[in-house]
Amino acid sequence: MKQISLTGIKPTGTPHLGNYLGAIRPALDLVKNFETVYFIADYHALTTVQDGSTMRDNIYKVAATWLALGLNPEEGLFYKQSDIPEIFELSWVLSCFTPKGFMNRAHAYKDKVNKNVALGEDPDSNVNMGLYCYPCLMDADILMFNANVVPVGKDQKQHVEFARDIAIRFNKKYGEILTVPEPLIQEETDVIPGLDGRKMSKSYDNTIEIFLDSKSLKKKIGKIVTNAQSIEEPKDPDTCNVFALYKLFATREQTTALAERYRAGGLGWGHAKAELQAVLEERLGAARDQYFHLLSHTEEIDKILAYGAEKARIRSKETMSRVREVLGVF
Ligand code: ADP
Ligand code: TRP
Repeated sequence: MKQISLTGIKPTGTPHLGNYLGAIRPALDLVKNFETVYFIADYHALTTVQDGSTMRDNIYKVAATWLALGLNPEEGLFYKQSDIPEIFELSWVLSCFTPKGFMNRAHAYKDKVNKNVALGEDPDSNVNMGLYCYPCLMDADILMFNANVVPVGKDQKQHVEFARDIAIRFNKKYGEILTVPEPLIQEETDVIPGLDGRKMSKSYDNTIEIFLDSKSLKKKIGKIVTNAQSIEEPKDPDTCNVFALYKLFATREQTTALAERYRAGGLGWGHAKAELQAVLEERLGAARDQYFHLLSHTEEIDKILAYGAEKARIRSKETMSRVREVLGVF
């Protein structure tokens, strides 16, 4: 039997190339070797997204992105977290087995506290209980579906390790009820650079969205920071932000050919950027059409998510009944 891989995606904005290369593409590739589970972590996003219509739009954008990029809902399980009430029941159960100290050490909470302290504010200023208990909900997401591996970025490793630890504690008390998961970290696409060369992130406002029409894409690519070398000068592809993105989409031959043109001189930044645009259009053009189709037919997304929720709840009810049984609640 194949192992189960599970990953959650927060609907916090419009997905960008960093999300695609760092999270979406590697997670979709797992379909070859794993039984895959993908879900939209909408209640996790609620710690920050607290406007109903923004949340709704974000959920549709994230769902359409995954579907357009190749998530096949027949092959992988695909649902929305908020459609699975058992997750919230399990989250409470797990919180009763989670030392409070774990939450104090959870990095998202700790970062926020450090920032507050640095600003001379109350340490818990603007910390809601959702942010504080975030890892317990994530434990429930993972343990509910018996995930063996959880593909995530490095920043999420600690959370998956909490899930692991809680599963072990729970099993020690009640027997082999929960599957002990492991994080699966993709090192090679760890930090996709953004327009300014820093890690591409919504919080740095340096993103290139995955699906842009040609004109907007050209404008975005135009903003990628390059050095002041003239057209004639030979250039180093390995220190260039344009090339860094190019090589993640191009074939090996295309990559070698462009690297040679960089080194030979005579290639201006405008030329390099046009090459990047061409390869992005080639790789993502068809998916872009599908993305916009889905966004203007959200009823298709509703149907897919309802189908996924129905399938997922068969499993979540199963896990929850095992858990309730050993807890002695009936
Ligand atoms: P953002 O920083 O834009 O808010 P998220 O935190 O929502 O992005 O990230 C969602 C997923 O995409 C995570 O798994 C994260 O590791 C991955 N990811 C985001 N930005 C990058 C990047 N620049 N390089 C590689 N992976 C990224
Ligand atoms: N916390 C993850 C993030 O910020 C999203 C997430 C929620 C998740 N539940 C999960 C990831 C379960 C993997 C498994 O990106």
